Amino acid sequence: MSYQAEYSKSIETPEQFWGEKAQAVEWFKQPETILSQDENGIYRWFADGELNTAYLALDYHVENGRADQDALIYDSPVTDTKRRYTYRELRDEVAKFAGVLKAQGVEKGDRVVVYMPMIPEAVIAMLAVARLGAIHSVVFGGFAPHELAVRIDDAEPKVVVTASCGIEIAKVIPYKPMLDEAITKSAHQPDSCIVFQRPEVEAEMVAGRDIDWQEAMATAEPADCVPVKGTDPLYILYTSGTTGKPKGVVRDNGGHAVALKYSMKSIYNIEPGEVFWAASDVGWVVGHSYIVYGPLLAGCTTVVYEGKPIKTPDAGAFWRVCEEYKVKALFAAPTAFRAIRKEDPDSEYLKPYDLSGLETIFMAGERLDPPTYHWTKDTLGKPVVDHWWQTETGWAICGNLTGVEMKEPKAGSSTLPIPGFNVQILDSAGQELPNGEQGSIAIKLPLPPSCLPTVWGDFERFRTGYLSEYPGYYSTGDGGYKDEDGYVFIMGRTDDVINVAGHRLSTGEMEEIVAGHPAVAECCVIGVNDPLKGQQPVGMVLIKNGVDVDEDELEAELVGMVRKEIGAVACFKKAIVVQRLPKTRSGKILRKLLRQIADGSEYSIPSTIDDPASLPEIEEIMDRHGLVTS
Ligand code: COA
Ligand code: AMP
Repeated sequence: MSYQAEYSKSIETPEQFWGEKAQAVEWFKQPETILSQDENGIYRWFADGELNTAYLALDYHVENGRADQDALIYDSPVTDTKRRYTYRELRDEVAKFAGVLKAQGVEKGDRVVVYMPMIPEAVIAMLAVARLGAIHSVVFGGFAPHELAVRIDDAEPKVVVTASCGIEIAKVIPYKPMLDEAITKSAHQPDSCIVFQRPEVEAEMVAGRDIDWQEAMATAEPADCVPVKGTDPLYILYTSGTTGKPKGVVRDNGGHAVALKYSMKSIYNIEPGEVFWAASDVGWVVGHSYIVYGPLLAGCTTVVYEGKPIKTPDAGAFWRVCEEYKVKALFAAPTAFRAIRKEDPDSEYLKPYDLSGLETIFMAGERLDPPTYHWTKDTLGKPVVDHWWQTETGWAICGNLTGVEMKEPKAGSSTLPIPGFNVQILDSAGQELPNGEQGSIAIKLPLPPSCLPTVWGDFERFRTGYLSEYPGYYSTGDGGYKDEDGYVFIMGRTDDVINVAGHRLSTGEMEEIVAGHPAVAECCVIGVNDPLKGQQPVGMVLIKNGVDVDEDELEAELVGMVRKEIGAVACFKKAIVVQRLPKTRSGKILRKLLRQIADGSEYSIPSTIDDPASLPEIEEIMDRHGLVTS
């Protein structure tokens, strides 16, 4: 089938298209209703189907000839450990850990927060929660206690699962004290915490609340899969929005299973039994979809890699893993390849490895800049596929269907819309723009399976944040255009979200923290270009009248505050003092203009500006601090 035939069918007859794709999933009860609307008027997929996602990811394969095939390979250069789990072994571990959770009272619909590093136990915990029909919410290990507390309060978990520590480049990060601090800060109190003790750090346990993973597993009774409805939630994953409160993206069981299974062949050209490696983290959506669920739903082998692209131990780490496990498709963020290129410009570390089994490299999480695209393609001599997606969708919105018909890639473009996504470029009045014109990227409803039906506990936030800007469309928050061939070019966010090393962060949230410093009268945080991490946050602060502070000391304090509140992952390292910020007459800071100045791009002075003289002044200050890209 051609891309065009596949895509047209998905848009013209979505029910027929997805009804057929749903046949690839082993439902406990086949869905009769393919597409319907819920009480909020939101389109829902497979509402009356019944399934269990962990069953599909594990038991189904054990029962259908894959019991002895590797399901998961754990490779941890930071602990010098390698371990393999067959489908049978992984199923048994998951069933046992589901028994541990069940003994703690976890039932269908309950929430379980998972705050863990990249170890197999994180995957086991997620699948065990799914096995019980409960809802997991994984929190990325780089987030500080405050962020964890906010998520605990929102998700209200019965149980939290953690490990004693995570291991970063040459440093051990104790997780348990961070969890303890988060629980002290949160209003909601989980009934119990299950702690996986790692040899590098022994976590102190709170009597009456904390349970030792290893001890509990030694006596656990395996628990069975609990059937859930297609529209029952599988997980909540918090992502950055424009304010300090993260949004709990809700993922259904049914649509997610159908979409991910479809994606493994159509987008990634992966067959059952092949090895797929997403070099991400289970704390992000890429980790949920393509370290855990996608490869396992498809009967593949997934790689759980606890390391970095560089320094663990060197810039050949990715190539070593690809060779050793015969990885067929590698998926990572562009930052990872920029880091490798910087560390190993002549690709000396690539030379010893045989990458003949590697077919394609996929990238997402941030814009794939053309130099990184060309470098990776030329260095590896393999096709590089940029694909664009969001936590909200759970899989790619635009990409290249390498398993259907590989289109000629164009540097800077994430190629064409994926079947099911009716991608349109809109002007500010909501009119569809012709090819070649830049605007806001929106997706005409209905969204395909797997996309969020609501924000956890706050449907109104979902409606106002995504559906009300352009009635009949979902607003992606990204801007861009289509070229004459319909190829989509993503040019960046239109809101206060930035991408630092492929990690999605909110400048609005950082502003709230910076504004909390007693010396700061006003501030704004923008993302500026960074050659390695894509973007870096920079704070611009106005000091209160009459307050005398040393600018370097203030910067250090602000950096410390953001690190303490959000976590090291925020990478907030620069705050500069300015005399005034450009604003509209109604007092709104012209952040877009500041971003344009930092990008060194042409800008026009808006007629609504209050004080045009502030512009050359701020440009000079930004330039002096090396913040303007030429
Ligand atoms: N637990 C605890 N801390 C973490 C963490 C985790 N899981 N992940 C990151 N951190 C910390 C890091 O140790 C670092 O702390 P520091 O400021 O004390 O040095 C900070 O957060 C920033 O981390 P990062 O942005 O990852 O920078 P880095 O310098 O450690 O590594 C790269 C740079 C490019 C190698 C790394 O960012 C990378 O591999 N990026 C790929 C991103 C990716 O996979 N994104 C997933 C989306 S697809
Ligand atoms: P996240 O929800 O963390 O996956 O981040 C989603 C955001 O990352 C998108 O809204 C984009 O701004 C950005 N993004 C993800 N993939 C791409 C890509 N391939 N090209 C450009 N931007 C991307």
